[in-house]
Amino acid sequence: MNKKSKSLLSIASALLISASLSTSAVMAKEGSEEGSNALEEGKNLAFTRKKGNCLACHLIIGGISPGNIAPPLVAMQQRFPDKAVLRAQIYDASKNNSETMMPLFGRYEVLTKDELDKVVDYIYSL
Ligand code: HEC
Repeated sequence: MNKKSKSLLSIASALLISASLSTSAVMAKEGSEEGSNALEEGKNLAFTRKKGNCLACHLIIGGISPGNIAPPLVAMQQRFPDKAVLRAQIYDASKNNSETMMPLFGRYEVLTKDELDKVVDYIYSL
């Protein structure tokens, strides 16, 4: 192989590597967009009055005129290292406080299982 074809070869392999890198970057991006769509759905469910209506009582950053009768929903992963505990609170708040004002979203089927999962994922991202 002469010098010229050697350098062509290295250019070609460099191109090949960068092409495969950018393909995987695009795939990763699509994956995260899918994830953020689900989070967006969870957010809508949390904010919609006829569904979660969490803002009636809780402050959520980005939510308009939140209530303040309940703890602000911030730093959730620090405060709920176990996501199952967070889910249980949203599923049936009466387990922790028999006189809670918080609707029993799962137990009373205010939210379907799928909707509850999306809300939990969204709240966990806060
Ligand atoms: C009618 C008022 C009300 C609504 C609506 C409401 N909550 Fe609550 N929530 C409370 C109160 C009050 C508490 C404090 C604990 C208690 O008294 O049961 C609480 C506690 C919580 C907690 C535990 C917070 C902590 O820091 O310990 C989470 C998580 C939570 N709510 C999530 C939600 C989500 C998600 C929604 C919407 C799907 C929602 N809540 C809707 C009143 C409400």
